[in-house]
Amino acid sequence: MGTTGLIERVFAWEALDSRGTPTVACEVSLSSGATGTVIVPSGASTGRHEAHELRDGGQRYGGRGVQQAVRNVNDVLGPAVKGHDAGDQRGLDGLLREADGTANLSALGANAVLAVSLAALIARAHHESTDVWRLLLDGRDPLMPLPMVNIVSGGAHAGGAVDIQDVLVVPVGASSFAEAIEWSWRVRLATAQACEARRLPATLAADEGGLGPRLDSNRQALELVAEGLERSGLQPGSDVAIAVDVAATQLWRDGSYRLEAEGRTVDASGLLAEIESWCDTWPVVSVEDPVADDDWDGWSEASRRLGPRVQLLGDDLFATNAGRLSRGAADGIANAVLIKPNQNGTVTGTSDVLEQARTAGYATVVSARSGETEDSWLSDLAVGWRAGQIKVGSTTRSERTAKWNRLLRIEAEPGGVAFAGRQALGGSHVDV
Ligand code: PGA
Ligand code: ZN
Repeated sequence: MGTTGLIERVFAWEALDSRGTPTVACEVSLSSGATGTVIVPSGASTGRHEAHELRDGGQRYGGRGVQQAVRNVNDVLGPAVKGHDAGDQRGLDGLLREADGTANLSALGANAVLAVSLAALIARAHHESTDVWRLLLDGRDPLMPLPMVNIVSGGAHAGGAVDIQDVLVVPVGASSFAEAIEWSWRVRLATAQACEARRLPATLAADEGGLGPRLDSNRQALELVAEGLERSGLQPGSDVAIAVDVAATQLWRDGSYRLEAEGRTVDASGLLAEIESWCDTWPVVSVEDPVADDDWDGWSEASRRLGPRVQLLGDDLFATNAGRLSRGAADGIANAVLIKPNQNGTVTGTSDVLEQARTAGYATVVSARSGETEDSWLSDLAVGWRAGQIKVGSTTRSERTAKWNRLLRIEAEPGGVAFAGRQALGGSHVDV
């Protein structure tokens, strides 16, 4: 690879994410003069096994400030990597981890560590006058991901309008990424019209740009998206299928699951029976976090009942953590892994989990957070790592469209880029 520029300056400051919550921004400058800038994302339905996001507490920004994390970049992490070759990302990430010294990056903050790791990657791309996705290919061909697009939101992203967090569409029949986005746009519009027809005041955009109608049951959220699908003129199942993120960790109360919208509490079997009935009724191809992150028995049952028919996707369950994935893979839990860089903390740590998942036969879905930024590097990671799938929210709100737009740009490359399509989905159901 040769020398690709030495890290000369690392500089962080406090910025805001798409919810207006403080987050860490960072610029890395190389000896060549090339710079890379990043603003890190932040979740709301944050799993307890994620790398630690450092917050200041106190009065400022309701305790959500990140001034300490910023200081940790400027005073500790920056000096630790100064003079390091930005071309050696693995060595750099190792230095960052070493400087923190804890497994979950709780000393300096994963938000501080990830900011430096990513900004260095971006600086290196600028230094080499290339794109981040090209840097990550390592001799392989790039791959446009199959998108999972948010249509109706609930849970922590929509003031608890319904209990489940997202009902999404997966344009499984699209032949290109651009077509997949256009089809998703059509379903979102038709679903908004379905809301209007039912006199549901649903046009407010939730945190990820989806519709946030207040409904009487979780089932109705799927019903609404299915109606949007019908109205869109696309073929349910063969053109566009449905995905659900239950985000069940959020519903977990002392061993059972509280469905507030329905005024009832169920155990894991009850919740899984409900989800199964959705899969019987509609063309559901992917179910994320159907039970809570530490409900391993529930996950075993989910893997037996749902695993053979849908992509069973672990988000809070795996938390982009190698140890959690090893445990799950040993027990045959789930068949797909959500990959969120800020759950892990470094660029190479995240790609290692992705490779581990691939080796274990799991599908991979690169994912944004509910608190996002105007950055679009996530799209480059998805293409360069050949993740196969990506989830960044809906087709509205600039922090979402920034990622779609980046992917549209990459696909527009002369000569084109292969599109992953439906084969990227995990599970053995693929003929919907
Ligand atoms: P979060 O939501 O960023 O609030 O965790 C995204 C997801 O659950 O997939
Ligand atoms: Zn999730």
